[in-house]
Amino acid sequence: MSHSETDKPQVAEAEVYTASVITVSDRCSHGEREDASGPALVELLGERGYRVVSTRVVPDERPQIEAAIREAAAGDVALVLTTGGTGFSPRDVTPEATAAVCERMAPGIPEAMRAASMAITPHACLSREAAGILGRTLVVNLPGSPKAACENISAVIGPMAHGLRILRGGPADCAAERP
Ligand code: MTE
Repeated sequence: MSHSETDKPQVAEAEVYTASVITVSDRCSHGEREDASGPALVELLGERGYRVVSTRVVPDERPQIEAAIREAAAGDVALVLTTGGTGFSPRDVTPEATAAVCERMAPGIPEAMRAASMAITPHACLSREAAGILGRTLVVNLPGSPKAACENISAVIGPMAHGLRILRGGPADCAAERP
């Protein structure tokens, strides 16, 4: 190894985090509509360096949403994104299922997503999306349309990586990582 190589600053390789995507939709789970949001999020996550290890579609039923989140967290996935079921329909219960299984809530993430989304559409305030932590897994709810889901996650995906480093015990220096 040449002298100049040893003098190079030792920059740690960026961590590759695993992710699971859960589409929450009665119609998609019954085969009445094709899931467009799940694949859109898989593509976005891939572009941002995440390794998507599982995708699934569940109906708007609390027990099934809760089981899907628990299962992903039991596999120690770093990030679970849910899409759908965050609105005002009587069937929309994804935030309740998320709050029921998470040990600690992370309200800043949905606050930031709604704030950023309000610049795109005033309907953004109608998403009751939540985020929380279960073990070493961060769970983030997103609205159901592909456009809304991608707009929301794009607003927080940068700071979220810093949060994941802290959650999963890697080296994270808040001051150094502040943009
Ligand atoms: N956020 C962004 N960025 N873009 C959107 O188009 N749609 C809103 C809101 N958040 C939207 C958005 C609408 S119209 C609704 S009803 C809520 O998300 C809830 O969506 P959901 O019921 O599909 O979860």
